[in-house]
Amino acid sequence: MSSLRVLTGITTTGTPHLGNYVGAIRPAVAASLNAGTESFYFLADYHALIKCEDPARIQRSTLEIAASWLAAGLNPDKVFFYRQSDIPEIPELTWLLTCVTGKGLLNRAHAYKAAVDKNTAAGTDPDSEVTAGLFMYPVLMAADILMFKSHKIPVGRDQIQHIEMARDMASSFNHLYGEHFVLPEAAIEESVATLPGLDGRKMSKSYDNTIALFAPAAQLRKQIMGIVTDSRAPGEAKETEGSALFQIYQAFASAQETEAFRQAFRDGIAWGDAKQALFERIDREMAPMRERYDSLIANPAQIEAILLAGAARARQLSAPFMTELRQAVGLRSVAKPATAARPAREKASGLPTFKQYRERDGLFYFKLTDAQGQVLLQSRGFEQPRAAGPVIAALTQGGAAALAQQAAYLQDDTPALRQAAASALDQLAEAARAS
Ligand code: TRP
Repeated sequence: MSSLRVLTGITTTGTPHLGNYVGAIRPAVAASLNAGTESFYFLADYHALIKCEDPARIQRSTLEIAASWLAAGLNPDKVFFYRQSDIPEIPELTWLLTCVTGKGLLNRAHAYKAAVDKNTAAGTDPDSEVTAGLFMYPVLMAADILMFKSHKIPVGRDQIQHIEMARDMASSFNHLYGEHFVLPEAAIEESVATLPGLDGRKMSKSYDNTIALFAPAAQLRKQIMGIVTDSRAPGEAKETEGSALFQIYQAFASAQETEAFRQAFRDGIAWGDAKQALFERIDREMAPMRERYDSLIANPAQIEAILLAGAARARQLSAPFMTELRQAVGLRSVAKPATAARPAREKASGLPTFKQYRERDGLFYFKLTDAQGQVLLQSRGFEQPRAAGPVIAALTQGGAAALAQQAAYLQDDTPALRQAAASALDQLAEAARAS
């Protein structure tokens, strides 16, 4: 049996901070050591171009992120560790996926929709300042994922929709051209800590409340001394609940250490002493990594070589797969005899079914899937779940003709999927008549 493939992309626009370390780097490095897993980690520098037009910053960030992951213990011989832009098959696959993706699907991507909503609220053109890159973001991300037949994608909640879109694209492609792609799933790590920042809000570059990951010890200490606390005096018992200082400590300490720290809070440890203890605890974990980081950063040619070697390994998978995909869609030698547009499909056993669900936008939707789970049709959002009922009934009874009648309730899709939906509805209507 082939092993489970886990894939993670890191956009190269910033310098990793302590929150990234606790929330992403540390758990990912730990997971990469699991037997039975093949891990893929890549620097999403094509994605970075969507958000950042400063070439020096992209380059610097790529270097720093690569050095951080390596310093944190990622073993480039055991995992696939590469830079997205070193894999030419990724943009190539992006185009193939673009051609099977409904524009309507991309219209509904959260990031794009948020930009449009913001423009609309401001009374400007809906697409004002929206690049086609932002619009296409989910397709590029799907190519990252599908290229390596990844099963699990560990992501934050904000990325779930992108994984679902990658699934949709994979199943559209499979439906049209045969089973080439693995359908990926989002893996949401509930137990991973989100670290509070200096001001107690979630640690994030956009709040300017981060603690640098590999800053010199003196700077780390200075930043920790700047963590916001209340004004309780030494000797007064302190609350652990809601204390950023305590939570950060907990993210680094063993259960036993945490318990001792909790007791110190009850016993009225002075904030200055608590901060010193936190500094020492973090520095204990960070000092050896910082040393590795500094020596890596001092030797960028070594990092470049690691990335290029990683890309060469990854391309041993992506290049032959791309050849297969080009064949599948008909980008092939004209000297060879033509084969069918798609492999003969076994007659589907079982009927297509409607499923209703609620989306993050709070609206109610339904979709029609065939017996293999391929999505053939998706509705627009309904305010009330009841409103979907009559539309589903009309589609179930009316066959292909009902598609046009109910068009106002349906999301736009590719002609190929429309065609598949039409035959599925005919099949349903036929079954209804027969029963
Ligand atoms: N969109 C991801 C983020 O902003 C980064 C990313 C790009 C990614 N391609 C990916 C993550 C593929 C997982 C899989 O965090």
